[in-house]
Formats: sequence, C-alpha cells, structure tokens
Amino acid sequence: MNRRPRRNRKSEAIRNMVEETSLSVKDLIFPMFLVDGLGKTIEVDSMPGIFRYSIDTMLREIEACMKLGIMSFDVFPAYPESLKDSVASESYNPETFYLKGLREIKKNFPELCLMSDVAMDPYSSDGHDGLVKEGKILNDETLEILGRMSLAQADAGVDILGPSDMMDGRVGFIREILDDHGFKDTSIMSYTAKYASAFYGPFRDALDSAPKFGDKKTYQMNPANSQEALIEADLDLEEGADFLMVKPALSYLDIIRLLKENYPLPIAAYNVSGEYSMIKASAARGWLDNDRAMVETLLSIKRAGAKIILTYFAKEYAEMIKS
Ligand code: PBG
Repeated sequence: MNRRPRRNRKSEAIRNMVEETSLSVKDLIFPMFLVDGLGKTIEVDSMPGIFRYSIDTMLREIEACMKLGIMSFDVFPAYPESLKDSVASESYNPETFYLKGLREIKKNFPELCLMSDVAMDPYSSDGHDGLVKEGKILNDETLEILGRMSLAQADAGVDILGPSDMMDGRVGFIREILDDHGFKDTSIMSYTAKYASAFYGPFRDALDSAPKFGDKKTYQMNPANSQEALIEADLDLEEGADFLMVKPALSYLDIIRLLKENYPLPIAAYNVSGEYSMIKASAARGWLDNDRAMVETLLSIKRAGAKIILTYFAKEYAEMIKS
C-alpha cells in the first residue's frame, strides 16, 4: 500500500489542516417568531428551545445573539386567527405589530441584517401562500398582494426580502415595484427551489398557519424533481434575485449542489423546522448526541454548496463554539 488515507487523519493537527469545510457564525441566519404584546417568551411545543417573542423580549434576544456574533435574523410574525382574512390585509397595515417590530429592530440595531418573509400564509384565513378562489390558488392576483407586502416590509427597513410563496413571476414583480418606489437597495433572497415538504410541520405550529384545506402542491415543488429547480433558478437569476435558496436543506443536498454548480449567485439553504425538531426529539430521548448531530447537519449543508444557512440552531451553534 503506497496510498494510506489514514495518514491524513492521524492527529488533530493534521485533521484540522486538511479540513475542507468550515462553518462560521457569519454564515448563519437565525429565524425568529414575533408575536404581538409585551413581556412574552412562549416556547414552541414542537421546537424545544425556540420561542415566540414579543418585541421587547425579541430585542433582548437579538442583542444576546449579536454578542455571540450572529448578525442576520429572519423574523416571522405569528398572528391570531381574528386578524387573518382572505386577502392578507394585515400584512401591509402600517400599524400592524409585525411591521412596527421590524422597524424597531432596525432602529435599535442598524448594523444587523434583517430578513423578512413574503407570502400570504401568516395573514391568510385560508392558510395558503396565495389568494384562494373556489379552491384554487390564483397566481397573478397574488402578485399584487405580495407587491404591497414587500413595499411595506422594505419601508420598515428590511434588508432582505424572502419571497417564500412560490408564485410564478414574483421575484421580477417585487424587484420592479421596489425599484419604482425608491427601494433599489432592498435585496431579494428568493425561495428558488421550495419543496412541498412534511418538514414544515413544526413551523406551521409556531405560526398556526397550516392550510385550512388541501396542500401546497400546486405551488411548492414536487420532492421527486430536480430539473425544475434549474427552471426556477433561471427565472430568479433573470428576474433579479440576489440570492438563491433551497428549502428544506437535508433531503435536498443534491439540489443545493446543482444550483451551486450552475449559478453565480450565493446559495442559501433553509434547515427547516422539522429538521431541527427531529434532532431535538431524538436527543431528548438520548438516541443521539445533540451537539454532534447539529454540527454534522450544518456542515453537510455547507459542504453541499450553501454559503448561507438559515437555521434554528444558530444561537446554540454560536454558544457551542464560543465555549
Ligand atoms: C411560509 C413559510 C414556510 C416556511 C417558511 N416560510 C412554511 C410553508 O411554506 O408552509 C417553513 C419554515 C420552516 O419549516 O422552518 N410561506
């Protein structure tokens, strides 16, 4: 044997030297859930360690995360049923707690990178990402609402809009409306390849946003397909997206790699709620080691080609490498 691969694994110093993938806190975006009111920190049952915050407690949490080096946050609103309607009016009501909260976050921490989600589901009485008529999800009519929502979020100071709705043409539509209103510097991270996945379950618990009928298969992608991801990515590149995102991450590492190899834009991946909860649930039973499973998961996503990872593990990972 003149070739013994184990020689490059023989000591920690050598292993570290030949290590190809490194994960920095700077690569991470921390998704957080905002609720109305004050003094609230409500744990999400299906996501141990993840909370719904009111604005005051969220500001404190963000500050704590920033001390650990996390600089990017994606904030989602959890609305009560009473404020939802079929056209998601609350999403562009300037007085709504979510938009006021975003503004407050940016005012307190102008140096952080603030991301928001553009889709109707948190505000929709139908629980769908688009406008529903006679059981169908309308595409072009939804764009108008997403446009209004995007302008309201951009006006609140958001740095990166994340259209997660999967309507056709929305990136170009939003780009144009932003430019027309002077928001030329507001970025778009497109949910390029977003699959109709079972792994969003805990997130829908957190926001109470599950669809009231049917599923999301007429707009989110079929888990069996990869070619379609190339069409979506072509469109997003053409329509002006600044980042391409793949979601979920773990069952779609091949898609992350596919986009990484074919597109010059930074690739992001969303390590979604169900992927987080699976690890938490087995770690709680002592079936696997939480920290090692977390690091291995995040590394695999980075190794596949994602420069940016949206993950509920962000704070925990930052705490782990600090200690
Ligand atoms: C809403 C949205 C979803 C997620 C992010 N934005 C859920 C869905 O499409 O049903 C899921 C995130 C997660 O599971 O962590 N459009």
